[in-house]
Amino acid sequence: MLLGVNIDHIAVLREARKVNDPDVLLASFEAYLAGANQITIHLREDRRHIHETDVKNIITHSKIPVNLECSIDSEIINLVLKLKPSRATLVPEKREELTTEGGLNLEIPNLKEVTRKLQENEIEVSLFIDPTEESIQLAHGLKADWIELHTGAYANTYLMLNSNLANTNYSIKELQKSRKELKELINLELDKIKESAKFGEYLGLKVAAGHGLNYQNVKDIASIPEIKELNIGQSIIARSVFVGLKQAIKEMIECVK
Ligand code: PXP
Repeated sequence: MLLGVNIDHIAVLREARKVNDPDVLLASFEAYLAGANQITIHLREDRRHIHETDVKNIITHSKIPVNLECSIDSEIINLVLKLKPSRATLVPEKREELTTEGGLNLEIPNLKEVTRKLQENEIEVSLFIDPTEESIQLAHGLKADWIELHTGAYANTYLMLNSNLANTNYSIKELQKSRKELKELINLELDKIKESAKFGEYLGLKVAAGHGLNYQNVKDIASIPEIKELNIGQSIIARSVFVGLKQAIKEMIECVK
């Protein structure tokens, strides 16, 4: 299992003060030294954390592949073509969201063209999708190299069932259900991810997964044999505040093993 470490939240901390600290390039080196297989960053249209200069610096100096998450906005895609990461993961983007909320709409008219253009420029294309049979079929039709299965619904259900989230200000309204219902729901979400991973691999797609994965909920996802890579950010950076980034990544590597 490969681990891509998403270091956007290092830049979130920097942007809280708009200074040059903490340094995202240094974070990418620490991730490499800790054993990460890939650096994942998201160049958002509003540049709320990662900036173009961060992407440039990391792509230039990283010893491991760089997976650049981005929307299919034409200005962003032109930048990606110039910056040339190893992979572009196409994600939906809304200005007002805290984080990527759902899978990409695969019926956007120019998606095939964008995918082809990126691939012609030696950039692998991954599509961040909801774990459904229809999405996998469409991703296959678009000739993507990778699919990344959105694990957010599974992760949210896991938090409401197994952590204290339900008793905090961050309790998720739609998931305020009985334990019995949450257990049924989590099994359903897990089954969707398992089935999607199997179907994706069957169609020849490389399968990754990510969103909301943490040190507790990652094990069930990491044990799905068709999933070859996980992209994890928030939980690692949150833990790094207490134990240091390298240690937090090493602990996650142990979990995904
Ligand atoms: N994969 C994709 C496509 C994402 O958009 C994100 C969030 O930026 C992640 C993985 C990582 O999610 P998290 O920060 O919740 O681990």
